[in-house]
Amino acid sequence: MEKLQDLRALLIHEVMDVYSAEEQIIEALPMMIESATNPKLKKALEDHLKITKKQKQRLDKVQQLLKVGEDKKGTGKKGGLFGLFSSGQKCKGMSGIISEGNSIMKEDIDPEVLDAAIIASCQKVEHYEICSYGTLKAYAQELGLAQVVKLLDETLEEEYEADILLTDLAVFGGVNQEAETMGTSNRSQRNSAESRSTSRSEGRSVLPTGSSSRSSATPGRSSGSRTSANTKRSTSKTQTTPASKGKSSTKKTVSAKR
Ligand SMILES: [Fe+2]
Repeated sequence: MEKLQDLRALLIHEVMDVYSAEEQIIEALPMMIESATNPKLKKALEDHLKITKKQKQRLDKVQQLLKVGEDKKGTGKKGGLFGLFSSGQKCKGMSGIISEGNSIMKEDIDPEVLDAAIIASCQKVEHYEICSYGTLKAYAQELGLAQVVKLLDETLEEEYEADILLTDLAVFGGVNQEAETMGTSNRSQRNSAESRSTSRSEGRSVLPTGSSSRSSATPGRSSGSRTSANTKRSTSKTQTTPASKGKSSTKKTVSAKR
């Protein structure tokens, strides 16, 4: 790779990184769609796959505007960073996030719990993209590239919206709660089955639920201190997320329902 000698070169380099990220997301989303069971989550992922394909096309336009691939004057050689969009350069950050997501989908996991895990994985993807597009937009603004800024901003806004939608599905749409309920139900069924088994072997009657002396699988859990792993749109203005224009996310209070 050629020396990155100015901000424009760095912008092009980072555009390539996020281009690879979008390609990987397009490849990974179908398995997540297939694995998700919550209909709203499935629909959200299907919609985001379509949006992601458009975002990739938008990056093609960015590439054209940045004149990536123009011949160096008179040399006949491809200039700058030509060809790297399709040269197999891979965004290792996105690769790691997707790899984590794929691993959990292969675990022995209840469908409701998997839905919660898929949302978490998708939000990691969204946050990476928000960071990337926010930074790219800041660079393009610095370079006075108005058209590039506009294109990047469209995508950045879509990533924010996707992140907010995922939080809504997880926290307010019941996905996290269903994962919790399912876990509780499974624990209860397991305890009940074990109690029956123990009682049969000891020739005694089945103990009523809750009277078993077995300790809970989650003895240390405090009902009041639960916090969600899902995130809300940040209002802080940092370089990596410069497009958070002070928009505040919907203020909703999560109540621990236990
Ligand atoms: Fe994207």
